Amino acid sequence: MQQKIIILDFGSQTTQLIGRRVRELDTFCEILPYNKFPTDDPSVIGVILSGSPFSVHDPDAFKVDLSQFVGRVPVLGICYGAQYIANSGGGKVEKTNSREYGRAHLIYIDNTNPLFKGVETGAQVWMSHGDTITAIPDHCHAIASTADVEFAAYASDTVPLWAVQFHPEVMHTLPGMQLLRNFVVDICGSSQQWSAASFVETTVSQLKQQLGQDRVILGLSGGVDSSVCAVLLNRAIGDRLTCIFVDHGMLRKDEFRKVMEAYQGLGLNVVGVDASEKFFADLAGVTEPEQKRKIIGRDFIEVFNAEAAKITDARWLAQGTIYPDRIESLNITGKVIKSHHNVGGLPEEMHLQLCEPLKWLFKDEVRRVGHELGMPERLIKRHPFPGPGLAVRILGDITRERVRVLQEADDIYIEAMFNYTCEDGQLLYDKVWQAGAILLADVRSVGVMGDERTYEHPVALRAVTSTDAMTADWAHLPYDFLARVSNDIINKVKGVNRVCYDISSKPPATIEWE
Ligand code: XMP
Repeated sequence: MQQKIIILDFGSQTTQLIGRRVRELDTFCEILPYNKFPTDDPSVIGVILSGSPFSVHDPDAFKVDLSQFVGRVPVLGICYGAQYIANSGGGKVEKTNSREYGRAHLIYIDNTNPLFKGVETGAQVWMSHGDTITAIPDHCHAIASTADVEFAAYASDTVPLWAVQFHPEVMHTLPGMQLLRNFVVDICGSSQQWSAASFVETTVSQLKQQLGQDRVILGLSGGVDSSVCAVLLNRAIGDRLTCIFVDHGMLRKDEFRKVMEAYQGLGLNVVGVDASEKFFADLAGVTEPEQKRKIIGRDFIEVFNAEAAKITDARWLAQGTIYPDRIESLNITGKVIKSHHNVGGLPEEMHLQLCEPLKWLFKDEVRRVGHELGMPERLIKRHPFPGPGLAVRILGDITRERVRVLQEADDIYIEAMFNYTCEDGQLLYDKVWQAGAILLADVRSVGVMGDERTYEHPVALRAVTSTDAMTADWAHLPYDFLARVSNDIINKVKGVNRVCYDISSKPPATIEWE
């Protein structure tokens, strides 16, 4: 049986990060809403309670019945989790005069406690709370303190229960990973069997069982998630998997052809559909970003459905949905702020069942699985690319010529990133989360080329660093790189006479311009 750690989500922004850290310890985990503990699951080897935007004294604060797991499996409370346990067990949680945010140092550590094995006194931790614990429950004792916080961490004398008011999951808590390792591996007894190889092995055999002789349809986008999903399914059921890859005409330069070749090289059974005529016709004259997105979404479903309907014996629709797409993060009103991915409007009469083999994986794990499956690095490391493609990177209405101009500029930019090795030996492409060029199609400015005056369009370059696309910073690309790319674009792409670099972070800007 696969061991698992349950992370109960009380709405903290770092809950997902706890999950990632546990996975980095090669241990399977599930993030569940605070009130959804699976009481009858024997594979649970430990429970972690997350932080929360609430104070334990707020009337609407999330409450959980601790007796479901305390005393049964090891428990670690983090921040709100620690305060909730203290408050429920007869301790005291109070507002502090000075809210505790940022770096702090552990001036006292109980090194005999297994949670702090290998952690030195003086270690830096990251605090982020308005309340603090001023008294801990009976039969508990402090196991770490900072100059301001006596109960920075405490443990029970009678049951396997630990609590920390700082955040071990964030990188500013320097011994955070050691602490989580101590909990997950030493205390909970994880055998650390979760790996890309074991995932592939178990998933392929589960898919074989689940799908039997059935036929499956999958929509490919050229992106990492759908591609890995396809290769995994191909391992399980071979050419009973039919992939559909729709070209809406607004992909990157030569992308449709290159990706089709890559897929065929991987042995996938792919139907490529060139539907660009339809998309260009329906988008003609449309400049409003939301309208562009709606038209593309609608056309896409129409084209995909028409193609899928030809596969009359299909029983399943596979999707490359990954874990962050599904996690229900709670906001402070208790409402779900990120809803489940849904099957985008497939006609009900097709009666397809949904198959989502990557639904437990984080993005970096999907890449590891792709690697394990022997997929080409370039496909695995590919930057995210929006569904509507270059349509949302052309400010103004969309024509084939404008797409061609942007494809040329974008190709020069992205290829240059692949060919630029940074001082640390990494490719520039691998250092940024996502990059692309934007054509300001309705703007023109004056320039001079040779003896000629020009009056043409600017191209903006965008590159961001991020971990989840929810927030992003503009990437600090080297000046010599930007200089070369700007030169190449202006010299080689007819219709462009100026290049700008976008230095906006998200928020308040977004990654895409439209
Ligand atoms: P924004 O522009 O909202 O983008 O900061 C966040 C991330 O989402 C990608 N994106 C999309 N992906 N369909 C997609 O599949 C879309 O309509 C879409 N719009 C934005 C964007 O490229 C970035 O990675």
